[in-house]
Amino acid sequence: MSATPTISQVLTDLVIAAAEAAGHAGVLENIEPAVPTNNPAFGDYQSNHAFRLGKALRTNPRAVAEAVKAALPAHPAVAKAEVAGPGFLNFTLDTAWLAQHLTAQVADPMGGVTQSGAGRTVVIDYSSPNVAKRMHVGHMRSTIIGNTLDRLHRAQGWTVVADNHIGDWGTQYGKLMVAWRRWLDKDAYGADPIAELERLYVKFNQEAGEGDDDEARAETAKLQAGDPENRALWSQFITVSLAEFDKVYARMGVAFDETLGESAYNEMLPGVVADLKAEGIAMDSDGAVIIKWPEDAADKALADKVLVIQKQDGAFLYGTTDLATLEYRMDRWSPDRVVYVTDMRQQLHFRQVFTSWREWRAARQAPVPTLVHTWFGLLKLPEGNMSTRKGNVIRLVDLLDEATRRARVVVDEKSGELPEAERAAIAEAVGVGAIRYADLSQNPQSSVTFEWDRILSLEGNTAPYLMYSCARGKSVLRKAEEAVDMSALALEHELERALAIALSRVPEVVAAAVGSSRANLLCEHLFETANAFNRFYHGLSVLKADTPARRASRLALVTAATEVLGRGMALLGIKALERM
Ligand code: ARG
Repeated sequence: MSATPTISQVLTDLVIAAAEAAGHAGVLENIEPAVPTNNPAFGDYQSNHAFRLGKALRTNPRAVAEAVKAALPAHPAVAKAEVAGPGFLNFTLDTAWLAQHLTAQVADPMGGVTQSGAGRTVVIDYSSPNVAKRMHVGHMRSTIIGNTLDRLHRAQGWTVVADNHIGDWGTQYGKLMVAWRRWLDKDAYGADPIAELERLYVKFNQEAGEGDDDEARAETAKLQAGDPENRALWSQFITVSLAEFDKVYARMGVAFDETLGESAYNEMLPGVVADLKAEGIAMDSDGAVIIKWPEDAADKALADKVLVIQKQDGAFLYGTTDLATLEYRMDRWSPDRVVYVTDMRQQLHFRQVFTSWREWRAARQAPVPTLVHTWFGLLKLPEGNMSTRKGNVIRLVDLLDEATRRARVVVDEKSGELPEAERAAIAEAVGVGAIRYADLSQNPQSSVTFEWDRILSLEGNTAPYLMYSCARGKSVLRKAEEAVDMSALALEHELERALAIALSRVPEVVAAAVGSSRANLLCEHLFETANAFNRFYHGLSVLKADTPARRASRLALVTAATEVLGRGMALLGIKALERM
């Protein structure tokens, strides 16, 4: 556990102790956590526990809140506790305590985030593009959302295994091999291998007749049987694809612990099917092997659904591989949680896989971790829907380039005096940050539309706004020159207090974001925090403060703001630049 409990934890613990002292021990299994009031008239935090407690006790919540208030132990965090309205218990924090609390949070290497993941392991399966094609923007959301969940879990102390489950197996390789042997343009392949592979694949799909399809099937079969020539070609396709993916990942600040593609599980597949049949979970059906759910399946979404795990021709499928992959992950890492990040179209697939696997584990009395499918809506550009497959695909690299190019125009205009290399680096950080933030700042399950001007704007709920606010703080600290003394933090003014509370709340929001797999909660809070910082900055003088004590205090607050905002942005994969 972190050395600094969050404000919400401190207050909730007091409420629990008071409820016990007031004779309400054990009435409720848990007391809901204290939350910010969002209105200074009602203090800083409020506890709403009395409503549920009152209901359970069949008394009026206001009386419950009064009793709890009377039993509150004295604590240095609380300057005042008051019962308001029908039963809210409102807390005003002690200012000196708040300052100390924020100072401790800034000094804490974990940034004050409760280490509730310590000793726990999560496998996060994200990005997972298909080989021999460039990643298109459809893979972008998985990469950004998955990588952010990765960072958030690490911040909470989890052991994270980020696994890129690339699509490196299937019938498309036979097609690609036929096309490669017929039409390869060596020069084009030398210049941009993956673009040439894409061209070959598209050409095959456009031109192939029935005989060609048979030939492609035969090549796939040879590959599967281990034919050395086809194997060598296939591994070359993977090598060039991974090199291309890595360039994009490096630009986006993404790194994996494992890249175990579908092909890694080939040898397990016959055993998986045999076991599932032996346990009575899968059955033969017209020469294929299937898992099916009855009309009255407990999970209504599965009613009458079928998951094919082996085709008539003996081929295994996507779901078979996912079942094998879960076994492998469990054997190797014993995770407490496995998270998959894909678009909404794979919801049924994962329900089927999760349910089948749980049954299979139950049959062996083997443990199961928490399985989570974090799905997201589609991504659109203002020009219209992203098209896939048919050739005119919008590629992730092109999108990053476009964002960077547009950011560069603004940087040149606003900061023309900076050296060329720095302007290029700023434009790249702003472009990538803007794309990440535009994706993350919305509810993941709604579809996202990129409007370039909005996402690159220095105003509003955008990455550039956060980056700019943070850089403003760093610039003040550079100008100040003197060493900052955090113990000078005084929080006299309402604007200072509001900023300190917003900053102190970041660790609570991180926990909520991990718990709900929703990074947008953190985006919203960082936006509010940046607003509080700018209100403070515009409302009060820092460098020209009227007394040395005030200057020292405000410099400490600016330090806290840049630290906390910078860390929060890092969790979203956004760089905090020195200047912009
Ligand atoms: N390769 C798949 C696609 O591009 C995503 C794989 C997701 N992960 C998994 N274990 N099924 O749609």
